[in-house]
Amino acid sequence: MTNQELIKSAVEARKNAYAPYSHFYVGAAIETEEGSVYTGCNIENAAYGPSNCAERTAIFKAVSEGHRKFRKIAIIGGHEAGDQVAGFATPCGVCRQVMMEFCEPSHFEIVVAKSVEEFETYTLQKLFPEGFGPANLS
Ligand code: THU
Repeated sequence: MTNQELIKSAVEARKNAYAPYSHFYVGAAIETEEGSVYTGCNIENAAYGPSNCAERTAIFKAVSEGHRKFRKIAIIGGHEAGDQVAGFATPCGVCRQVMMEFCEPSHFEIVVAKSVEEFETYTLQKLFPEGFGPANLS
């Protein structure tokens, strides 16, 4: 799957973002090792703490459907409505830790987008160096 195709899915998922407190709307789409795609949006809560990021929504949806290996994730987030945003929304530390659980750091790609045409790619290794993961417990 191309980065553009995956970003398109993230843009669609972003339309469902529930962010009445931050007004920062995020969409994510993750591609499994088998080539299927799961999407997610951020879901906030009046108590703030229970809020969930778009990336974790997508990952947890996929894991709950039996997928545990992933190729890449596309993320788009911003205050703007519509299909493009002003800045790159890189994943928060909690989401990076969750990625560490299921993704191979040197291969898993994180595509952060401002639009379908404008994006940057990183490996998990680059964004979460020396992260603690399942290998540390083996
Ligand atoms: N958020 C995400 O969903 N993903 C990110 O990568 C960064 C932050 C959400 C959490 C919260 O609902 C809002 O964006 C503002 O932090």
